[in-house]
Amino acid sequence: MVRQKKIPSIKSDYLHKDIVSISQFDKDSIEKLFQTVEIIKQSGMRGLPLNLLSGKIIVLLFYEPSSRTRSSFDAATKQLNGQTIVVENPQQFSSVSKGETFEDTIRVFEAYSDIIVLRHPEKGAAKRAALAANRVPIINAGDGPGEHPTQALLDLYTIWSKKKKLTGLRGLMAGDILNGRTVHSLLDGLSYFPGNEIYLLSPDELKLSPKDLAKYKAKIKIKEISKIEDIPADCDFWYWTRVQKERFKSEELYKKVNNKFIVTKKILNKYAGKDTILMHPLPRVGEILEEVDDDPRAIYLTDQTRNGMYVRMALLALVLGKIEQVVR
Ligand code: NCD
Repeated sequence: MVRQKKIPSIKSDYLHKDIVSISQFDKDSIEKLFQTVEIIKQSGMRGLPLNLLSGKIIVLLFYEPSSRTRSSFDAATKQLNGQTIVVENPQQFSSVSKGETFEDTIRVFEAYSDIIVLRHPEKGAAKRAALAANRVPIINAGDGPGEHPTQALLDLYTIWSKKKKLTGLRGLMAGDILNGRTVHSLLDGLSYFPGNEIYLLSPDELKLSPKDLAKYKAKIKIKEISKIEDIPADCDFWYWTRVQKERFKSEELYKKVNNKFIVTKKILNKYAGKDTILMHPLPRVGEILEEVDDDPRAIYLTDQTRNGMYVRMALLALVLGKIEQVVR
């Protein structure tokens, strides 16, 4: 099949589409994904075999390190009886090191697979891959400081499953707002649902660029804050993030802004509400202390991580047109 050379919107039809940016989505498409997640979860609980990806091969092409995203795509594929080819650091261990172009690498892997899941250090790489690929969809698993759409989808699903809504929420996002691709994609995702209000807590150096701030402000109510004391009472969620060390020119610049805001038991008890959920895309590197982990509001190592696998199962099944087998 020769695919069209453009990135289409989802419009509730996932079949063979690239998942490059959260901007391809809308409210209905996100809700369709959530329904699919529920169906898949329930089928699993009822012990129904989920052979949806039987005979399918998913390439996990990761130019940047990853634990959760890569292994949750791997687990999602295997839970659905599909298989994976995992290619880590192709710049070191594959023909990329001999000078093969990015486009050729994509064309080669699409010859062996049904979907390519790509993580790459350059913003826009997933789109480039999608334009290069002729046969199979590309799923963006993080493109530098750009986007991380599947993380946003699992974050939205996690908020929805806990709060039973995605409208009229008050949320806090903290940490590296400038470079955090998960923050960017989640802000976009939340903007599809009315009435949300997001506080952004970071040191001045890690605030959104003026261009991005204007872009997001046009879509969603945003307030930038610089002190823990300015966190509003009773947020529905806190979304903490790590300072993205790999995006800094020097260790010195990173150290200057790292871990300005740390969640301790004391901070959580003083500034979060009793029903605030505490999320983090992980890995954390000191910005949430371990003493917080046992608090029932802390769901980064439990629900949020687990949902990553379910959401990716649903996404793979939808993109490969396999979900109707379960719905029937
Ligand atoms: C995030 C990422 O890679 O952007 N991790 C993830 O995918 N769960 C967040 C991060 O690395 O800080």
